[in-house]
Amino acid sequence: MPSDMHAQSTRSNQQRCDSAKMDHRAVVPPVIVFDHVTKTYRLYKSDRGRFFGLFRFENRDLIGTIRANKDLSFTISRGESVALLGHNGAGKSTALKIVTGVTYPESGTVEVRGRVSALLELTAGFDGQLTGRENIRLRGLTIGLSHDEIEGMEADIVSFAELGVYIDQPMRTYSSGMKARLGFAFAVAIEPEILVIDEALAVGDTSFQKKCIARIHEIMSDRNVTVLFVTHTSKLARELCSRGIVLDHGANVFDGPIKQAIAFYDDLETQS
Ligand SMILES: Nc1ncnc2c1ncn2[C@@H]1O[C@H](COP(=O)(O)OP(=O)(O)OP(=O)(O)O)[C@@H](O)[C@H]1O
Ligand SMILES: [Mg+2]
Repeated sequence: MPSDMHAQSTRSNQQRCDSAKMDHRAVVPPVIVFDHVTKTYRLYKSDRGRFFGLFRFENRDLIGTIRANKDLSFTISRGESVALLGHNGAGKSTALKIVTGVTYPESGTVEVRGRVSALLELTAGFDGQLTGRENIRLRGLTIGLSHDEIEGMEADIVSFAELGVYIDQPMRTYSSGMKARLGFAFAVAIEPEILVIDEALAVGDTSFQKKCIARIHEIMSDRNVTVLFVTHTSKLARELCSRGIVLDHGANVFDGPIKQAIAFYDDLETQS
């Protein structure tokens, strides 16, 4: 092919590609939208100060504030898998907690469209006096599932967690890895539309970790599931995500393809 024709065909391919991307963006609706979100934590000298600070009665014991998320904006479309990267204290967990509704920003707006399942603090919220099986039911009811829905999920959760006879023992007798197994098994059983993962894959032994990663791959193969993933392991981020957002002191400093995001984050780390 003559070179000008080649250039023309490359250009028209490029145009097709660009318009396909634009079509994709126009067609695939955003499911998570952060628009200039700022979250500030207030630090108090004592629990008493923290308590009164809640009602803004007095600020005598206030020793400082920390901007965990600073004017943070990003949009994630349905089916995307995005890694949040950043140093310790960069604001990653805070952003995930805002997505799950555990905490709220004081300014900016957040939209989350879809059923969120969170792998955040896997072991939190279990009642140690109840058995694993009873905790499955309790957790199911707490998130608004019907008895039939819980019954339908129970066998899957029990088999995924592989706790043997311990599933019918009080959870106070579980090791922390066993609690995490049940937490993970529950979170992935509810067929989430949005899956939020915060370092949760660091729990459990190696074979359980492999099983968790395989399950996440399986969930992600559903093109309608959106994943927001926090990890300090670049290999996992590359394996699971196509896009990366780098946070630095609460602010979005890079948003783009995962390889470039990891390179940007590595540079940032070496500079600091
Ligand atoms: N409940 C809280 N009260 C006060 N400060 C908080 C609270 N939660 C988080 N912070 C502060 O907000 C900042 C961001 O914390 P966050 O947990 O979001 O960071 P992170 O990026 O998840 O860090 P890591 O990689 O260590 O998990 C940190 O300085 C942290 O100390
Ligand atoms: Mg964190």
